[in-house]
Amino acid sequence: MRTLIIANWKCNPQTLAEAESLFGSIRKGVKNIKNVETVICPPFVYLFNLKKAIDNLKLGAQDCFWEKAGAFTGEISPTMLKDLGCRYVILSHSEREKYFSETDEMTNKKIKAAILAKLDPIFCIGETEKEKERGETQNVLKKQIEKGLKGISEKEMENIILAYEPVWAIGTGNPCQPKDVRKITFLIRKIVSKIYSNKTSNNLKILYGGSVNSENVKDYLVKNSVNGFIIGGASLNSKEFIKIIKEIN
Ligand code: PGA
Repeated sequence: MRTLIIANWKCNPQTLAEAESLFGSIRKGVKNIKNVETVICPPFVYLFNLKKAIDNLKLGAQDCFWEKAGAFTGEISPTMLKDLGCRYVILSHSEREKYFSETDEMTNKKIKAAILAKLDPIFCIGETEKEKERGETQNVLKKQIEKGLKGISEKEMENIILAYEPVWAIGTGNPCQPKDVRKITFLIRKIVSKIYSNKTSNNLKILYGGSVNSENVKDYLVKNSVNGFIIGGASLNSKEFIKIIKEIN
């Protein structure tokens, strides 16, 4: 199974020229990479142009709306993303909850809509620093998984990727330690196996995100741990991002 690397550019860069340049450098840098699938998730507005230059990279979006079409000012439907060449969509990133008050119920609707449009949802879960301090991590993840996946069939689970992104590790330079990430992947599989079959839980792809860089990335790829990463800050620097990919190729 190839390791999955998702570049989450968030609200960067500020011009199309910069986006194309960054995309081009990454594409060149990963030309001979065989064991890593690299997915770039730029802001929506760059998708159209980047699709033309896609080559060995894949495209994803950072969010989508749950309705197909209609009077929803400012929203982007999963069908539009599919049409622009997206294969993946990041959903329920903690910044969506923090700044846009997204709830588990909204995430659930978005996951279902993404699957209907044949996008692979990357469903982010993770506890805040306070929740971690209070020893609530397990309960928080359980609630997020149960609510986010409500009504999703065993078959549909084949296309869902889970991403463990502890809020306290995102953009802080304070990553969750590899041994703790490994424990969390066990926990996630256990929670999922209570809802679905063991096969579905074992086959589930789990990513880690939160202050991953070229120095620490390799430490996470131990047996029975994660299948890939979401990279935020470090994906905006082509040299560093290519280094990360080469480390794990
Ligand atoms: P980071 O962000 O790599 O900058 O910590 C990860 C994310 O938010 O997905």
